[in-house]
Amino acid sequence: PDEPVALTVNGQPATVDAAPDTPLLYVLRNDLALNGPKYGCGLGECGACTVLVDGVAARSCVLPLGGVRGRRVTTLEGLCRADGSPGPVQQAFIDEQAAQCGYCLNGMIMTVHALLEREPHASEARIRSELQYNLCRCGTHIEILRAACRAAQ
Ligand code: FES
Repeated sequence: PDEPVALTVNGQPATVDAAPDTPLLYVLRNDLALNGPKYGCGLGECGACTVLVDGVAARSCVLPLGGVRGRRVTTLEGLCRADGSPGPVQQAFIDEQAAQCGYCLNGMIMTVHALLEREPHASEARIRSELQYNLCRCGTHIEILRAACRAAQ
């Protein structure tokens, strides 16, 4: 049997007893009940499953559990403030009503959060380029962009 995998999830230590090639997304959703990250394409192409690994945006559907051993994983849930209220990027998306079906928003928010951690006042051009590989099928791109720009103010 495989060794359990120890990692940090949203600041808490976690130990997962699953095969190391299990996609991290499955572990987060099925073993750890963190349903912020979504299953979209399963191929690393849509961004719905985005999480942060050591602060860097990563697609958890194509990231094996074994690849995050000992690392720091943050999900959408981990962006909330200590009192459970939305974090600044989440609040900007609420303020701009940047959801239609909402399925892509996990990836949009995680990607914007990671960008703003590096560049707190990123330009609209930077935000656009960062979000270009996050797909939204409803077409709420204008509101999403507005929310991201609001968070970058
Ligand atoms: Fe992971 Fe689409 S579900 S990139």
